[in-house]
Amino acid sequence: MEPTTLMGPSNPLGYPAPYWFLVLFKVLGFTLHMIPMNLWYAGIIVAMVLSWRGDAHARRVSHRLMKPMPVIIALGVNFGIVPLLFLQVAYYKVFYPATILMAWPWLAIIVLLTVAYYGVYVYVAGLRRGDEEIAAWRRAVGWLTAFLFLVMGFLFANAFSLMTHVEAWPKLWRATGVAGAPLGIALNVDDPTLWPRWLMMFGLALTTTGAYIAVDAGLLARRESEHYRRAAMRIALKVYTVGLIWFAVFGSWYVFGTWSVELRGMMFSEPWVVLTGLTAIAPGLPWLLILTGGRKMTPRWATLVGGAQFLVIALNAISRQIVQNAELRPYLDVTAERVNIQWSPMVLFLLLFVAGLGVVAWMLRKLVGRGELVGSGR
Ligand code: HEM
Repeated sequence: MEPTTLMGPSNPLGYPAPYWFLVLFKVLGFTLHMIPMNLWYAGIIVAMVLSWRGDAHARRVSHRLMKPMPVIIALGVNFGIVPLLFLQVAYYKVFYPATILMAWPWLAIIVLLTVAYYGVYVYVAGLRRGDEEIAAWRRAVGWLTAFLFLVMGFLFANAFSLMTHVEAWPKLWRATGVAGAPLGIALNVDDPTLWPRWLMMFGLALTTTGAYIAVDAGLLARRESEHYRRAAMRIALKVYTVGLIWFAVFGSWYVFGTWSVELRGMMFSEPWVVLTGLTAIAPGLPWLLILTGGRKMTPRWATLVGGAQFLVIALNAISRQIVQNAELRPYLDVTAERVNIQWSPMVLFLLLFVAGLGVVAWMLRKLVGRGELVGSGR
């Protein structure tokens, strides 16, 4: 069976905006999604380990990581909608069939996320009484929440690897369908790219968590003691280093062990080799800043660390987009679709997007100003 017969048909209306516009906001939105997503993906586990095994300073770091988590999740989920919208518009031919094949696990994310979100609130409510006194059952909820986010990350990795591996669809469709109707219970676990991809993203999430702890120590935790901030810096360096090694190991497995010869050939030749190289070495920059500048811990230095980590994530999002298009090219050329520009929704989107970012910035300033976002107080 031709795998392309399972792809969605072309929309006769065409794309409502040029491809460059759709992909620009897809990548920008995904970059904005990844920052908070990385913090709940790896940050909750790091916080749980620090609270379980760490000394008083480590527990304080854990507290400061978890306290803003409800806001971080709200931001990350909302920012996730931006790439989702553009993905659905530009990649609908492959996004919908892939997520229909795995419909139940895909829809389960809504339930898992709701449970995990409540779990975070339950844990954070327990923090009000102080880290030491947090009840055992709330700790258990914290661990469960960390696990649920790992599962959700796994489901996302399934969906987006399945979306570009169109050749795998017929087999999955036959294996999980009845009389031609897919039951929606497939997972992409036979795809060799899935496991390293999932693990690589977790490594990246660890680096973002390390960078966040450093930014917090240098910028937001100015009311904490010098002693605490130094201890937090050491923890940030450890977490970042583990993330860096993790990212390098699973990233190498992903690129050298699972990419096709053609894809590797493309990403390692001009012009993309520059992007591939930058994406691979970029995490070294924040790591070096944390390693060498940790003593200063000035707000300026913390802003530099944050900016460098933003660059790491943005480069990752861009490379991922190039790879996504390259993997799809045998089946679909997203740049060749008919365009029929719809000006009014485009202008409305731009206005609301800018206004939305303004409101988010305003809310964050208010929360930081009141010490609500950071773990001030017990
Ligand atoms: C319900 C709110 C969420 C929305 C709307 C959302 C949206 C998205 C979108 C659109 C992408 C793909 C972007 C692209 O290909 O350009 C993505 C990727 C991803 N998301 Fe989210 N997301 C949400 C929640 C989560 C949660 C709760 C997690 C849990 C860890 C998560 C983890 C991930 C991961 C790991 C990827 C990358 C998967 C891969 O390609 O391997 N997201 N998300």
